[in-house]
Amino acid sequence: MKGIILHGGHGTRLRPLTHTGPKQLLPIANKPMSQYALEDLKKAGVTDIGIIIGDVYPDKVKEYYGDGEKFGVNISYIYQEAPKGISHAIRLCKEFIGDERFIVYLGDNVLRKDLSDYTKKFQSSETDAMILLCEVDDPQRFGIAELDSEPGKIKKIMEKPKNSQSNLAVIGIYFLTPKIFDIIDKLKPSWRGELEITEALQLLMDNGNKITYDAVTGWWKDTGTPEDIIHANKLVLDSIGTENQFLIDDDTQIKEQVVIGKDSTISRDSFVSGPVIIGKNCTIGPAVRIGPYVSIGDNCIIKNCEIENSIIMNESNINSKISIHDSIIAHGSTIKDSIVPKKHKFLLGERSQINL
Ligand code: TTP
Repeated sequence: MKGIILHGGHGTRLRPLTHTGPKQLLPIANKPMSQYALEDLKKAGVTDIGIIIGDVYPDKVKEYYGDGEKFGVNISYIYQEAPKGISHAIRLCKEFIGDERFIVYLGDNVLRKDLSDYTKKFQSSETDAMILLCEVDDPQRFGIAELDSEPGKIKKIMEKPKNSQSNLAVIGIYFLTPKIFDIIDKLKPSWRGELEITEALQLLMDNGNKITYDAVTGWWKDTGTPEDIIHANKLVLDSIGTENQFLIDDDTQIKEQVVIGKDSTISRDSFVSGPVIIGKNCTIGPAVRIGPYVSIGDNCIIKNCEIENSIIMNESNINSKISIHDSIIAHGSTIKDSIVPKKHKFLLGERSQINL
């Protein structure tokens, strides 16, 4: 079985963060979000992986994943010249897939439970496609499946319906067979100019093929917006353990679920309350309060501030008496010199400079 990770798309809802790289490389708990997809596939025994790259900094994706060797997988890159839809991206993989069954994983989806059980179920079935469903509060944001009164059967699959009876979202992990390629060839672009995956699945059913589903247990997150990314960071941090490889002054107060990278130091008057992850070679303190739900990347200098429920990426430098919450601060940003102790909320692209 092969895997495909979708790493293209526009990422418009995540600007300015996507002005300097694809959204799927944004870190969640200090790991690019698409690496969760890759590791899930590997854990399910899928090691031949095609990564769809688009026109938002594709070289950064290749530079990070390379040929896959350091992740224990084989990676092929498939270029999508423009974001013409999920089905369009899948169709580009026909040659790579050959006549095998395969899994498509959207690189901006994060799933709590690994894929092993779903993969076994799909492989041992005769079904032509299997989708995973998860209850959501806002069905108008997702592809939605309506179930039939006959148990186990799907009645209809719709893209972002305005008024749906169902709140079962079709999550961004699809178990498919090569039958899908001929179906995609019959699709026309939707009102938003894309070849939709929901329309391909519906047409697959309409043509008499069998689609089954399974329910997602645990959480699933589609990280389209900054708020989604901060929420995904919280969900992932909730499941981290404790692993301290750091230099620390005796009196520093560190509470549970704190992971601290090599050569990072935390001053004795600082306070870290987990779940928190701090990368390598960071200087934390003096007078810092971090947590809960904070990810700090490598080589950061954090002084005199409070940070809660936020993501601070590598090489950032914050030295200010401020309270930061619900924020994303990208690579190499600087915030300094606060005179007014106030609460602030940020969405900073790479190398931003804030003088308060
Ligand atoms: P979306 O989140 O639907 O689209 P987007 O990434 O363009 O974001 P926005 O709406 O903010 O502009 O895409 C879902 C996933 O599929 C995401 O990982 C990107 C990927 N994708 C492709 O690889 N190719 C495509 O043509 C499209 C539309 C999406």
